[in-house]
Amino acid sequence: MAAANGANGAAGTGPPDRKPPALPRPVRGLEVKFTQIFINNEWHASTSGKKFATCNPSTLEQICEVEEGDKPDVDKAVEAAHAAFQRGSPWRRLDALNRGRLLHQLADLVERDRAVLATLETMDTGKPFLHAFFIDLEGCIKTLRYFAGWADKIQGRTIPTDDNVVCFTQHEPIGVCGAIIPWNFPLMMLVWKLAPALCCGNTIVVKPAEQSPLTALHLGSLIQEVGFPPGVVNIVPGFGPTVGAAMSAHPRISKIAFTGSIEVGKLVKEAASRSNLKRVTLELGGKNPCIVCADADLDLAVECAHQGIFFNQGQCCTAASRVFVEEQVYPEFVRRSVERARTRPVGDPFDARTEHGPQIDQSQFDKILALIESGKKEGAKLECGGAAMEDRGLFIKPTVFSEVTDTMRIAREEIFGPVQPILKFKTMEEVIRRANSLEYGLTAAVFTKNLDKALKLASALESGTVWINCYNAIYAQAPFGGFKMSGNGRELARRPLAQP
Ligand code: NAI
Ligand code: MG
Repeated sequence: MAAANGANGAAGTGPPDRKPPALPRPVRGLEVKFTQIFINNEWHASTSGKKFATCNPSTLEQICEVEEGDKPDVDKAVEAAHAAFQRGSPWRRLDALNRGRLLHQLADLVERDRAVLATLETMDTGKPFLHAFFIDLEGCIKTLRYFAGWADKIQGRTIPTDDNVVCFTQHEPIGVCGAIIPWNFPLMMLVWKLAPALCCGNTIVVKPAEQSPLTALHLGSLIQEVGFPPGVVNIVPGFGPTVGAAMSAHPRISKIAFTGSIEVGKLVKEAASRSNLKRVTLELGGKNPCIVCADADLDLAVECAHQGIFFNQGQCCTAASRVFVEEQVYPEFVRRSVERARTRPVGDPFDARTEHGPQIDQSQFDKILALIESGKKEGAKLECGGAAMEDRGLFIKPTVFSEVTDTMRIAREEIFGPVQPILKFKTMEEVIRRANSLEYGLTAAVFTKNLDKALKLASALESGTVWINCYNAIYAQAPFGGFKMSGNGRELARRPLAQP
């Protein structure tokens, strides 16, 4: 084709030769440089001398060992963060414009190291490299820039009162914040918590998930390079019941932002109440309804529902994990969804053709397979997949179940894996009732060409976000968070930081 355009688009020979831009490449043979605990802009061994291994779930090989933090390391990190927050410290004296500038500079370095960070993320989680590069890293950079812009625009109000007094509000940072991060979007979930905390002038202690600590630690090196004052950001790798629990109960941490399971979310809140009543923001699970009406653009609905459930190997709190399809189009929707799932390219996450990698670890793998078995036993119709890939470690075949009913476990429990349960509905009232019947309420999606119906469903669904004719449309500018047991509080956007 290029030749047909003449000598590389010479004048008069037609349009210039526009080759698509080359795809980004992973960094081959990348050596992991940062494996220690990051406190006060310095790297430390663990107090206990212990380390833990982090593995590549697509090969099951150990990548490296990381220093294993515990309570004494959390204490040191909190002490550093607390000192950095004291009145008169370099961080507290820094004006808001320059706080924003530091966040922009951090975004510049994340852009510079984008391929390194995406490579580390793929090694540590098994997610396809191009997804890490174009989705996770894109989300990180945009979130950093969005909050960088907010730093000097956080304003209070002047409030008329009944008496002759001047009353005004001024927004103050909270203090030392804690961030407990999951493994499904390790760097992006970290940035969702770090960017707003720093934008508002707080200091932070971060605990990455034990399955995926490497990008967080690389980010520590960028924090140091940018020149954030020591102690503003501290990163303690380690396990939940040790590092995570010590943070949740720490009397000097004023707020915890947590993303993960409902079970641990409850523990964090309990520990917060028993210690210092720290504020707690929780982003927990979802069993998100995706409603396809008979008048929907079926190609669009099939593709969005497919990406909605299978993206990131199904390991998303927003996963489209209950697809309700109106009865007239049910057989056709199932047929096309099965065809799509069968052709989903599963394989080496560093191969540019791959859309689907392994699950994160053995325990998630076992949980998903057990739920698939429950679906078979409870009478759902297995349309495709339904098992692990032979001899391929933690890979599970994209799985579709039809004839799923509300009482089956696969329709009630968060599977967090590549399993698409497709249910049938008849009326709008019925689907609203069924969609709202669980204790989850994170996201929902609606596919219809009828605007009236779309808006009626959107307001009736008990979900933090409702997508209409699209999926996973998540932006730094828009709030994200759940109803009911999917969580408390909101992340991203203006509201959490600037609401009077
Ligand atoms: P988890 O909730 O145990 O892990 C999330 C984070 O919490 C990790 O950093 C972990 O080390 C930490 N943690 C664990 N125990 C803790 C404790 N006692 N105190 C403080 N922090 C603690 O989630 P896990 O076990 O990795 O996955 C279990 C299920 O949770 C998944 O199958 C999925 O259903 C759900 N999940 C939801 C996520 C989401 O995005 N909402 C992310 C990860 C898991
Ligand atoms: Mg757990």
